[in-house]
Amino acid sequence: MIFTVAIDGPAAAGKGTVGRAVAAHFGFAHLDTGLLYRAVGALVLKGSEPVAAARGLAPEALEQPGLRSPEVARAASEVAVIPQVRAALLEFQRGFARREGGAVLDGRDIGTVICPSAEVKLFVTASAEARAGRRLAELLEAGHDASFDSVLADVKARDARDSERAAAPLRPAEDAFLLDTSDLDAAQAVSAAVARVAAALGR
Ligand code: CDP
Ligand code: CDP
Repeated sequence: MIFTVAIDGPAAAGKGTVGRAVAAHFGFAHLDTGLLYRAVGALVLKGSEPVAAARGLAPEALEQPGLRSPEVARAASEVAVIPQVRAALLEFQRGFARREGGAVLDGRDIGTVICPSAEVKLFVTASAEARAGRRLAELLEAGHDASFDSVLADVKARDARDSERAAAPLRPAEDAFLLDTSDLDAAQAVSAAVARVAAALGR
């Protein structure tokens, strides 16, 4: 069975949480496409040229530590505006989306560019304040030093860069289901997403 769930939305909206849970529930594969851009961003911080880094990206690069740091997030959103970087990562994502057995991909342009024919499209969002609070909790948990104000500023700057860029800007696909999680906990957001996918599968 070929079946793609495309999940897009701004930083720290809960895309990964929803994506992982939907994939586990239905036995689908899951790809956090933000990790591809984070891996390229991390290589650029170490001195690589962005397009060469994207073209030569090895699967092991997605496993390296440190990809969740605010510095790497910023570098990721900077390389993500470069059309040749996006082009270098496109085929891998498309192949993943149409693999046998079902796939969930989360990112910024999955429903609009990577997989416009996805069977289910979700646009997961929440207020910038709610998202910054969640990301702060994750960073503190992982031992990073961060304040609410710095995380909020980072989230807003990244949202602006992701939405205003010319290449594959962040926006909901016309046929995306909008899931605003500002007042939902993670379990409630996951339930809403699972229900949507189950309906599309006719289960
Ligand atoms: O992938 P994305 O950056 O959109 O978000 P995430 O990595 O899934 O992280 C969001 C964080 O907020 C996680 O720690 C979740 O447990 C938490 N959270 C959520 O995902 N959804 C909610 N409705 C409430 C909290
Ligand atoms: O987890 P969070 O939402 O904070 O970020 P991410 O999904 O790991 O993505 C990091 C950055 O990569 C984003 O701010 C985007 O600039 C870029 N990205 C993108 O352009 N297209 C995607 N499909 C996924 C990520």
